[in-house]
Amino acid sequence: LREALGRRSIVLVGLMGAGKSSIGRRLAHRLGLPFVDADTEIEKAADLTIPEIFDKHGEAYFRSGEVRVVARILDAGPQVLATGGGAYMNADTRARIRERGISIWLKADLDVLMKRVKRRGDRPLLKADDPQAVLKRLMDERYPVYAEAALTVLSREATHEDVVEDVIRALA
Ligand code: S3P
Repeated sequence: LREALGRRSIVLVGLMGAGKSSIGRRLAHRLGLPFVDADTEIEKAADLTIPEIFDKHGEAYFRSGEVRVVARILDAGPQVLATGGGAYMNADTRARIRERGISIWLKADLDVLMKRVKRRGDRPLLKADDPQAVLKRLMDERYPVYAEAALTVLSREATHEDVVEDVIRALA
């Protein structure tokens, strides 16, 4: 599988709570590839946390940084890259991912997403009164775009290891 990938990276896309970072880290370990988390790289580059970037500079500023950071990471492949939930919505980013990598949409049901996002309360887009309504709206907006990914794997309620196996099967 490593050889079949060549210089291409594996790029995980999908909504907040889909498990992109947890699955990505384990997948990278299995494949012997470096793991890179785009949000972490954005935080390092800005020397601010994601909530601080949103607070101080706004979402548009975050998005332009995200485009640049994802492009830089893709240039350094091959690796397993976990993107932030909104990264794949940018057309330039999608084109770059197509060139340099294999995109995998980790698709999850609303109840699974809700359970998982509750465990980490640092997502600026979910600070709203009704995070479930926000997630639902994002599902409507984004699922047709995530569906352009090369592969789709169901991020089901199972152990991370099981989902990693599903990803490896999908890649084979
Ligand atoms: C966002 C998802 C977050 C982070 C930012 C915006 C989004 O990443 O990039 O809060 O627009 O869906 P995760 O998907 O890793 O939570």
